[in-house]
Amino acid sequence: MNLLNLMDDQDLILNLSPGPSALPHDVVKQLRDFLNSRLETGSSLIEISHRSSEFKAAHTRIKDLLRRLLLIPDDYTMLFLQGGARAHTSAIPMNFMTTQAKLPVYLNSGVWSALAAQEAKRYGDIETYSVPGVLPIERLNDADYCHYVNNETIDGIYWDKLPKLSHRRVICDMTSSLLSCSIPWSRLGCIYASSQKYLGLPGVTLVILDRKWLARITPMPQTPSTLNYQQQDQSDSLFNTPTNISWLTALWVLEWIESKGGLTYCVNNATHCAQLLYTFLDQSQFYQATVESHLRSKVNIVFKTRNVQSDQDCADYLAQKGVIGVKGHSLKGGLRASLYSTITPELIHVFIEHLKAFEEQYDAI
Ligand SMILES: Cc1ncc(COP(=O)(O)O)c(C=O)c1O
Repeated sequence: MNLLNLMDDQDLILNLSPGPSALPHDVVKQLRDFLNSRLETGSSLIEISHRSSEFKAAHTRIKDLLRRLLLIPDDYTMLFLQGGARAHTSAIPMNFMTTQAKLPVYLNSGVWSALAAQEAKRYGDIETYSVPGVLPIERLNDADYCHYVNNETIDGIYWDKLPKLSHRRVICDMTSSLLSCSIPWSRLGCIYASSQKYLGLPGVTLVILDRKWLARITPMPQTPSTLNYQQQDQSDSLFNTPTNISWLTALWVLEWIESKGGLTYCVNNATHCAQLLYTFLDQSQFYQATVESHLRSKVNIVFKTRNVQSDQDCADYLAQKGVIGVKGHSLKGGLRASLYSTITPELIHVFIEHLKAFEEQYDAI
């Protein structure tokens, strides 16, 4: 493969955005064809009832694919809801907080876990602990539930060292890790993830729940019906009209993932891409990965150059070359490359060539 040819290809946009992120090319084509196609009724699947047999068939296929790809045990149910992951940082306390005799525990590993804790405090008292750090296991064992975010998208931190607890009332926000790691179902009661990073378009929030726990909870009376997990489960996520185009795109993305080799492909690909990029950054005198090696995310790689100005110049240079979405989050600054399922080792090599080219021209000034 000639990387320089690839780099000169004006059509090659390398999208390293943290989310919404790049869709697979095949899925973009499918979307385009879909919008031009019609069912026998003369309408398309997004113009007919979500109670139609055609839509139900798509729904069943999404559930089957997800169960197979993520190895979801039979005693877990899947909900496809709205509001994004942030709405579910409200839904979680509303559904799972009980008497306040056993406070929920929120583990803080970065921006998104802190925001989830802040939201939960609107509904009752909670306890928070920073991770990594020493955790009081008795408190965690006694908690209403325990919430954490295994991949902190903004901080570029991955932490998943929660000790085994005596219960499975553990909730993990997997918005930016869903298809980058295997999911330890034996110790989780609930995971949630919005769709715009791993499942295509924004608009669906996947919530996967242990059915036994779901049967035991008593959602707060003020919980909106659309965010009431028991109610949504009873109506098979169709309590209200679903975001049909996002559901269908998620279906095509899942089919694409299965065609590539499923979760094994995704995890190996993510690991390989991250290794390539961190190795380059660690050997560089100009770039620096900013997270300690034992906490590094393999999905959101945060790094910096010499100073704030050179970070900005680097992001501008990359954008001119068709590499987009690399500017760090406004809360953190620096640079960040997000490597979801469409990013391949070949594209990482192209990215590294661009980083080298920027360094050379910067040093020449
Ligand atoms: C880990 C994590 N949690 C929550 C969110 C918020 O997701 P949404 O915008 O879908 O509410 C994000 C968004 O990037 C995220 O990365």
